Amino acid sequence: MVKIAVLGYGTVGSGVVEVIGRNCADRLEVKYILDLRDFPGDPYEDRVVHDFNIILNDAEISVVCEVMGGVGAAYQFTKQALEAGKSVCTSNKELVAGHGTELLALAAAHGCHYLFEASVGGGIPLIRTINTSLASERIQAVTGILNGTTNYILSRMEREQADYAMVLKQAQELGYAERNPDADVEGHDACRKIAILSALMTGRKVDPEKIYTEGITGITLADFQFASMRQRKIKLLAMCSVQEDGKLSVLVAPFLLPGDHPLAGVNDVFNGVLITGNTLGDVMFHGRGAGKLPTASAVVADVLDCAGSQGRPVPGGWSDKEVEYAAEAETDRRFFVRARLSARREVEAAFPGGSAFGVGEIPSCEGEFGYFTAVMKEKNFEERYRKLGDAVLNRIRLA
Ligand code: HSE
Repeated sequence: MVKIAVLGYGTVGSGVVEVIGRNCADRLEVKYILDLRDFPGDPYEDRVVHDFNIILNDAEISVVCEVMGGVGAAYQFTKQALEAGKSVCTSNKELVAGHGTELLALAAAHGCHYLFEASVGGGIPLIRTINTSLASERIQAVTGILNGTTNYILSRMEREQADYAMVLKQAQELGYAERNPDADVEGHDACRKIAILSALMTGRKVDPEKIYTEGITGITLADFQFASMRQRKIKLLAMCSVQEDGKLSVLVAPFLLPGDHPLAGVNDVFNGVLITGNTLGDVMFHGRGAGKLPTASAVVADVLDCAGSQGRPVPGGWSDKEVEYAAEAETDRRFFVRARLSARREVEAAFPGGSAFGVGEIPSCEGEFGYFTAVMKEKNFEERYRKLGDAVLNRIRLA
């Protein structure tokens, strides 16, 4: 029997305890649950402790689940556990993306593991698959819907013509959204996840602070109405690809996807990840990217991996050498622009070679039109878009 400690008895922590109780009680025992609070009446109330040193000093504990989140106490406890030779399994993408390089090295130095399957794609078995089943591949690109909350919001806005604020509130009630919804809706959560995937893909450190990140707060129902006229969906994509010169192109932003794009049908809280390998081609993963039990299931899978691999390395990780980043401003793309009909000439002059649509066809968007630009560099588009000022209402990249 492997004895473990769970740090944080919130949504994911209570899920970890439940998954172990339901599926792994013959192999794993939850000896401690660390939380600031007490849980009178909870079946595990006798395991609750408030002092991390009790866990640290107990030689019976070989694996710690860090599911408290944040980069304060979680970082300190993770370092201390690894230094004591205790493996750590986590869903904490902020910590993995920000300090994973150091924590992976610490685990290697102390003969234990730092595993984070649940940090990307919730319950989708993604990281272990990249590290093992795709080990023979040179992964060239990853494109993903990596945030369940924003996908849920966008899906419901489109399907029900629902209000952004109301849908966000429900996402929080369902336990999908982060405590601070900015992390989801501003794209930071997806940014951390693509930083982790691109580090695994390249074997090098990727700094989330250097990733261009745009969230969904500027997306309106009018954008959905124009998008649907062209059979397009609006999705928050996180994408990375290795360029011919070896540099990494990586960004997070909303995109208009064609209806037949493999990720266009990934809806609600589901995540979808498309991986392109140099000999394999495309492979796609789909599953619950957020929520208590799917996320907990991935944490517990890591615990079982640690339990079964004491003393031998688990594949995966990256070095402390940082990737070289491609300049996003130089990327060639097409863009959707929503603009005032009174400025149609100016818009067409700024973006020659594009096509206008939806002129006078959407009753709730009277006085507006949609425009798809020709292919152009991001920097050229941004410069001309900015100059148009009030004539333009929104712009979204085209995939
Ligand atoms: N808030 C995150 C999401 C949780 O919505 O995807 C899972 O990482």
